[in-house]
Amino acid sequence: MKIALAFAEKGRGRVRPNPMVGALVVKDGMILGEGAHLEYGGPHAEANALADCRSQGNDPVGAELYVTLEPCSFRSPEKHNGPCTEKIIEAGIRRVIIARPDPNPKVMGRGIAALKKAGIEVVAGVLEEDSAALNEVYEHLISSERPWIHLKVALTLDGFIAAEDGSSKWISGPDSRARVMEMRRDCDAVLVGRGTWEADSPSLTVRDSEGRELPGYQPRKIVFSGRESGGTLFDRLCALRSEGVHSILVEGGSGVFNSFLTEGLWDRLTVFQSPDFLGSGIPFCGSLGIGNIGGKVQLKGRTTEISGRDVVISGTREDMACLQV
Ligand SMILES: NC(=O)c1ccc[n+]([C@@H]2O[C@H](COP(=O)([O-])OP(=O)(O)OC[C@H]3O[C@@H](n4cnc5c(N)ncnc54)[C@H](OP(=O)(O)O)[C@@H]3O)[C@@H](O)[C@H]2O)c1
Repeated sequence: MKIALAFAEKGRGRVRPNPMVGALVVKDGMILGEGAHLEYGGPHAEANALADCRSQGNDPVGAELYVTLEPCSFRSPEKHNGPCTEKIIEAGIRRVIIARPDPNPKVMGRGIAALKKAGIEVVAGVLEEDSAALNEVYEHLISSERPWIHLKVALTLDGFIAAEDGSSKWISGPDSRARVMEMRRDCDAVLVGRGTWEADSPSLTVRDSEGRELPGYQPRKIVFSGRESGGTLFDRLCALRSEGVHSILVEGGSGVFNSFLTEGLWDRLTVFQSPDFLGSGIPFCGSLGIGNIGGKVQLKGRTTEISGRDVVISGTREDMACLQV
């Protein structure tokens, strides 16, 4: 399943807002075919793995299929592919091993039920958390009207995002800035507040280490302003979702972080912590109204890594729930 999850990564940035999925056809401990969902609207991972198996002259009859998400089992006018369950049954697969049941209400257990009904042995929940983490944007979009929100901040060791004069270039080091480019490429839009736009004139583009804009995909740029004109943040975000913005990387500054954190409108927070002090400056997010240590905001599913001279801490707001099917 670890290999199938690595294959799923091939669809990163290419299949959204659909899930990244990987699949392997295995017989007698040998991988006979491998596949991933590679393009939005393109064949699913299961179909690609079966096609790969046959193209090499291998027979999938009696084989096992490892797949990182429950195979789909429905047809609809908006859907480009027929049910993968039918392809698996027709191929004579003996056993299907699934990482994560599909949280999409149109599937959610129906794929597993269809396979079992056809006499196929099914094992579900193998590396389920890894699959859910891989598709955290998809998982969010299934159950929410707003885009997935990733807050990204560079902090000094004493918790400031900029010096007193508002300058913040560069708190994080070059390795961390390269990571931010990948984070931008992974999102539909990058958002900053009016304060940051005016203070830093950020390009908000995906660039190489020399500062050259990379060809290909660039996320949409959003500058937030007009807080006084009313409307809630949630409504603004839902309006962006209806325009096709499914994921947003929020890059600050302090006022914007405060808005998203106060209203609980975020899904992942990534902090690049530099080894420098300022003593005073602009705080990360200002007051969130937490008066007692018991009310502290805690990151779930936390990872801590070294990035050049910085420490990167990343985590989500919610725990991943295992799905019962
Ligand atoms: N280290 C880092 O990671 C990092 C990242 C970004 C920025 N910075 C630094 O942060 C500083 C800027 O921070 P800042 O707090 O002054 O400005 P900011 O957060 O970038 O922008 C604040 C403005 O955003 C708008 N805004 C905030 N919440 C809103 C909401 N809910 N709805 C609509 N509009 C909303 C408001 O614009 P209106 O007043 O027009 O309503 C508000 O005045 C700069 O010094 C910059 O260098 C550091």
